[in-house]
Amino acid sequence: MSKLVTIFGGSGFVGRYVASRMAQDGWRVRVACRRPETAGFVRTYGDVGQVEPVMCNIRNDDSVRSVTRGTDAIINCVGTFDRKGKNNFGAVQDEGATRIARIAAEEGASHLVHISAIGADVDGASLYAQSKGRGEAGVQKHFPNAVILRPSVVFGPEDQFFNRFAGMTKFGPVLPVVGADTRFQPVYVDDVAQAAALGAQGSAAPGIYELGGPDVQTFRELMQSMLDVIRRRRLIVNIPFLPAQLLAVLMEAGQTLTLGLVPAQITRDQVKSLKSDNIVPDGARGLNDMGVEPTAMAAVLPDYLWRFRPSGQYAAIKESAKDTAGKLGT
Ligand SMILES: NC(=O)c1ccc[n+]([C@@H]2O[C@H](COP(=O)([O-])OP(=O)(O)OC[C@H]3O[C@@H](n4cnc5c(N)ncnc54)[C@H](OP(=O)(O)O)[C@@H]3O)[C@@H](O)[C@H]2O)c1
Repeated sequence: MSKLVTIFGGSGFVGRYVASRMAQDGWRVRVACRRPETAGFVRTYGDVGQVEPVMCNIRNDDSVRSVTRGTDAIINCVGTFDRKGKNNFGAVQDEGATRIARIAAEEGASHLVHISAIGADVDGASLYAQSKGRGEAGVQKHFPNAVILRPSVVFGPEDQFFNRFAGMTKFGPVLPVVGADTRFQPVYVDDVAQAAALGAQGSAAPGIYELGGPDVQTFRELMQSMLDVIRRRRLIVNIPFLPAQLLAVLMEAGQTLTLGLVPAQITRDQVKSLKSDNIVPDGARGLNDMGVEPTAMAAVLPDYLWRFRPSGQYAAIKESAKDTAGKLGT
C-alpha cells in the first residue's frame, strides 16, 4: 500500500500543486478543506481514488484528528488574509497551525511541512506576520522536526498577485501601488510545491527555509515586468503610506457596511506589511539547499498573462506578422 499524505488546504493555489506533486510521486493524497464539493478537480491529479478531497475545518480538533489519523505525512497549506470573521489570522495561522502540529504528533505522523511566509515574526509590524510567527512557534513546539517553508509572493497561473494587477490595467491608464520601492522575490508555485513534497518525503532537513525566486525586484519593477509581458503601457503611481492607510480605513468601513459585498482592495494590515521588504535574508536556507532550482518569472509569466494582452492569444501572431512585414519593408 502506498503512503498517505493529508494536505490541509490542498485545494488552494499552492496546495493543488503540492497535491499534484505528491500524487505524481505515487502517494495517496487526502485533500482536507472546508468545501470538498468545490475541490473535485484534485481527483484528476492521480489514478482513480488516489486523490480524494475530504471535509475538514482546521479550527476544530475532532475535524483535524479525523483526517490526520493513519497518515504518514502532513502538509499544511492553509492561510488567510482575513483579519475579522471566524476564519481570521489568529484562528487559522496561529491556532489552526498549532492544532495541526499537535494532532500530527499525537497521531504519530512521520513528517510535517508547514507553509508560513517570509517575515513571519511574533513581534512583526502586521497582524498577518504576527499570526504567522505564532503559528511557527506552535508548530516547532509540538513537532520539532517540522519543515517550515516561508515563501515570498508566489506566482503561477492561479496567483492573486500578477493576475490581479494585470486585471486592473483594464480600468484606465493609471496603475496605483502602495510601497512602490518595497522589494519582493517572487517564487514559482511549483518550486514551493517541490520543496513541500521533499519535506513530506523526509528528503529535507528539519527547520526553516525561506523561499524566493532568482529575481529580486521592487513593487514598481514587478509591475513594469508584468506590463511588458501584457504589452500595455500604464502610469505606475505610488500611493504614499499615510494616504494608503486612510484609504484602507475607508475601504474596510465600506466592506463592513456592505456586509462584505464590496471587499476592501487593501487593508490597514496589508499597508503595514508593504513597508518591509519581502525577500530572502542573507544566509537563510532556501530552495537551493533543498536541491530545487528556482524558476525565473520570465519563464512562466507569459504562459498565463497573455490573456491580458490587447489581442489576447492573437498578440503573438500579430507581432510576428508585424515583424515579417518590417523585414520585407511592406
Ligand atoms: N499565495 C501567496 O503569494 C503566498 C505567499 C506567502 C505565503 N503564502 C502561504 O502559503 C499558504 C497557501 O496559500 P494559498 O495562496 O495557496 O492560499 P489559498 O489559495 O487561499 O488556499 C487556502 C486553502 O485553505 C483552505 N482553507 C481555508 N480555511 C480553512 C479552514 N479553516 N479549514 C480547512 N481548510 C481551510 C481553502 O479551502 P476551503 O476554502 O474550501 O476551506 C484552500 O484550500 C498559506 O499559508 C499562505 O499564507 C502564500
